[in-house]
Amino acid sequence: MEKHLLLGEETIRSRVKELAEQISSDYADKEPIMIGVLNGVVFFFADLLKDLTIPAKIDFVRAASYGSGMTSSGTVTFTKDVEIPITGEDVILVEDIVDTGLTLKHIARRLEEKGPRSLKICALIDKQERRKEKVTIDYCGFRIEEGFLVGYGLDHDEEYRCLRDIYQLK
Ligand code: IMP
Ligand code: MG
Repeated sequence: MEKHLLLGEETIRSRVKELAEQISSDYADKEPIMIGVLNGVVFFFADLLKDLTIPAKIDFVRAASYGSGMTSSGTVTFTKDVEIPITGEDVILVEDIVDTGLTLKHIARRLEEKGPRSLKICALIDKQERRKEKVTIDYCGFRIEEGFLVGYGLDHDEEYRCLRDIYQLK
């Protein structure tokens, strides 16, 4: 398989900065709890949070919907829950990429059960091709029609995660 450059480091950095500015202004008088979906989100999460100009708390959840291939298994298992109490808090769920939407929908439902004051969703990449569940992405970095992406946290079988740029695998 070959990898083709899709989003370069500088392009990603400047878009992440814009997202952080937008979140900082929307939450100007608040202190949101930013919840990252492990593992793919780690690079995006760190860059986004460093660019915020408001205080924020952080926590993580982990869910698995992918086996080892490039297609979703359709079943989502929740393997790590939040540890900070989120009841009555403003929560922003941060995900690397939304594909079928099954993972995000499942996690969002779990978090809603805890009664946050608000719950918004931020995703670096919105990939619409195989969407099965309607999800509202409040803060979206890039919209991509199709393809399997790697780099900047995104992996294929745990490979390519640590690349600085985002590539399409072909
Ligand atoms: P969904 O449940 O189908 O929306 O898939 C969500 C998860 O699958 C993401 O959090 C990613 O971990 C993974 N995923 C989906 N598309 C890609 C891709 O193009 N590259 C790498 N991982 C992906
Ligand atoms: Mg993920």
